[in-house]
Amino acid sequence: MGDVLITNIISEAKAMNDEVVKWRREIHAYPELGYQEVRTSRMVEEKLRSLGYITRKVATTGVVASIGSGGPVVGLRADMDALPIQEENDVPYKSVVPGKMHACGHDAHTAMLLGAAHIIKKLHNEGLIKGTTKLIFQPAEEGGLGAKAVVKSGAVDDVEAFFGIHVWPFLPSGVIGVKDGPFLASCDDFEAVVKGKGGHPSSPHEAVDPISVAIDIANAYMKVVGREIDPLQPAVISVTSIRAGNTYNVIPEEAVLEGTVRTLDREVRNYIVGRLEDIGKSYAEGMGCAFKFHLLQSMPPTVNDPGLGKVVREALQPLRVVEIPKPAMGSEDFSFYSDVGATYFVVLGTGNEEKGTTYPNHHPRFDIDEDVLWVGVAAHTLFAAKAAEKLRK
Ligand code: NI
Repeated sequence: MGDVLITNIISEAKAMNDEVVKWRREIHAYPELGYQEVRTSRMVEEKLRSLGYITRKVATTGVVASIGSGGPVVGLRADMDALPIQEENDVPYKSVVPGKMHACGHDAHTAMLLGAAHIIKKLHNEGLIKGTTKLIFQPAEEGGLGAKAVVKSGAVDDVEAFFGIHVWPFLPSGVIGVKDGPFLASCDDFEAVVKGKGGHPSSPHEAVDPISVAIDIANAYMKVVGREIDPLQPAVISVTSIRAGNTYNVIPEEAVLEGTVRTLDREVRNYIVGRLEDIGKSYAEGMGCAFKFHLLQSMPPTVNDPGLGKVVREALQPLRVVEIPKPAMGSEDFSFYSDVGATYFVVLGTGNEEKGTTYPNHHPRFDIDEDVLWVGVAAHTLFAAKAAEKLRK
């Protein structure tokens, strides 16, 4: 990819900033929760079709659009869903839907990828991007496992390299953060039910008390990370809820534990999840209770492919890039795309103290520095062009 092409991509991206801001504000004003992104996906589909993309509806409200033909196939992903949060920003583009808000920047992700769609189409027309570029507008990242549903649809089966960008208030505006290897954690939210036998608290010997058993199981869980996992492997188990009974003079029938497991490695993750079930079952049964374990939500860690890391660093050379020193224990369903091809996820700094855009994601006052949306547009386009070039070789 020549220097002239890179310079052109960047100047075209800059020229698109106002339009991208306009789209972002429109999406921001009408936030939609996971699998309800009807308005947003209609807007996305109409714009892409008018540009000449072939679009396909996937995963209820998702859109996968493709341009070009043959290999290599490069996928760029944006998520579209909002959160059940009441917006507290007083801005002209404030959410008009009570109790719903784009508090994680998925409005910006969608708008940036739409911006990239314009430049990518031109580059394909001019023969400057070879192969196929697929744009993945995914529903339900926030707890709905939208990425898993997109993968299941088969629409991205042929994608060899996936790229994703997340806006990040913790980095200065316009800076892109990259990190090879583990970047975000796996997430396994669980529910464990301990079933005993209810009774009168004055005669515990005639009941089987599930509360004391549940407390012991929660404490046993705390020992898994400390005693069974390599201390050099990051892992977290948090029991976040123990529910049982509703009065002082009844031993209840059951107790329910809830919590979450986060790791940076698939094997560690599988081991821990397996142990939570085994420990709970053995202990509960040993104490005369029945035990049931369910995963409520489950996703692998986001691990950035070092081979694509090279592509990413070369592609981003003309932009401001920092190396992120350590992974975060939050999660992203982008990780499901690694079941299909190589993946790389970067963050785009949108934090600017003066503009008040340093509130964390999911905060009712979360907002982004819109002046740097072009950086995301450029990055997506550069990923598509550079990866297509590298994968062809
Ligand atoms: Ni997000």
